[in-house]
Amino acid sequence: YGTTGVNKNGHLEVGGVDCLELAKDFGTPLYVYDVALIRERARGFKHAFDEQNVKAQVAYASKAFSTVAMVQLAEEEGLSLDVVSGGELYTALAAGFPAERIHFHGNNKSREELEMALEHQIGCIVIDNFYEIDLLKSICIEKSTKVNVLLRVTPGIEAHTHDYILTGQEDSKFGFDLQNGQVEKALEETLPFDYFHVLGLHCHIGSQIFETMGFLLAARKIVEKMAEWQEKLSFESEVLNLGGGFGIRYTQEDEPLLPSQYVSEIIKEVKHLIEYYSLKMPEIWIEPGRSLVGDAGITLYKIGSSKDVPNVRKYLAVDGGMSDNIRPALYQAKYEAVLANKPLARANETVSIAGKCCESGDMLIWDLPLPETGEDDLLAVFCTGAYGYSMANNYNRIPRPAVVFVENGNATLVVKRETYEDLIKHDLPLK
Ligand code: LLP
Repeated sequence: YGTTGVNKNGHLEVGGVDCLELAKDFGTPLYVYDVALIRERARGFKHAFDEQNVKAQVAYASKAFSTVAMVQLAEEEGLSLDVVSGGELYTALAAGFPAERIHFHGNNKSREELEMALEHQIGCIVIDNFYEIDLLKSICIEKSTKVNVLLRVTPGIEAHTHDYILTGQEDSKFGFDLQNGQVEKALEETLPFDYFHVLGLHCHIGSQIFETMGFLLAARKIVEKMAEWQEKLSFESEVLNLGGGFGIRYTQEDEPLLPSQYVSEIIKEVKHLIEYYSLKMPEIWIEPGRSLVGDAGITLYKIGSSKDVPNVRKYLAVDGGMSDNIRPALYQAKYEAVLANKPLARANETVSIAGKCCESGDMLIWDLPLPETGEDDLLAVFCTGAYGYSMANNYNRIPRPAVVFVENGNATLVVKRETYEDLIKHDLPLK
């Protein structure tokens, strides 16, 4: 992927920097990001819209990986930003991200979070439910502030992915149901309200999706309704936000499309539908998270203890685990890995990579072919850039790893490794 390759020392290299140097300079476990690949992915999405002459916003779903440096990189690449909490919003603002390009999501935004969003005049709030309509109205009145809103629609699509990351099906905690009149009711409650500018509609059907069918179906269902609402409510949707969810290749078994392929098929379908119903072409917004940063991230671990279960398997333990990557334990997610110090050495055994947490479920990779390993070996797990650091935790009071950006032969520390002092900094003694 990207700038990852093998250098003349026979070591794994990313962004022109030797992974052994990275481990030596910054310690392990270590999240390493190939910045050039993030830029390439971002440009791929943007270019696909430009090519088809479609007005668009590509909003980076910062839940995938939110830090000040990452937000600044998104800004450099001209992306918009999707945030889902006061914390992500705070990070974006602290990074100097232009407020007018921030979109605020979430199924239970608090009064404080909404107030913060209005105070900074962010680009739009994606209203999720009736409770939020009332809450946001009361805040707008109190502060005499206008705000752009999108309505989040649940289109009733079953995308093929893991149940926990499915979001567009009818039985979902998110959004107004398209099927049973909820969206129309929400439009009736929001359109006449002077402080709201209803920009349009949003849906997100799920995550790690490999085919375009789900997106096309969702677009079809929503555009059909747009035609109906144009007639009935004189509502013209200026924006159609089709969310994120574009899949990436974690292992050889995964067969994702390129960003440009997802985008061009979506545009083709939307254009066709819009023409069919004689509507005005809305701006198309998308919200990729994983597909912008996922395959740009590698985690480096030091290999430690091992255990043989004769005739069953060999466990090899690393110095991290579910505290820095909970995805295998939570979603049975699969990853590939090599030894960074000898990535081309022939594999002569099959091992299972265990984390160091006190939990049997803390396994990172089952049945990984590797060459024989020894004390100084460094394991590089690929494709950990999305939902790794952002879902990291301090289980067993393990400090979160550092994050390094590499580009053109330079490594930059963008998140410091947590210390033991960090771990207890909010603890108070009994007396
Ligand atoms: N937009 C909305 C409204 C979303 O809910 C999400 C993800 C995205 C965009 C970005 O989706 P992406 O392009 O990254 O697939 N923790 C899980 C993924 C949860 C995704 C939640 N929503 C994982 O590690 O697989």
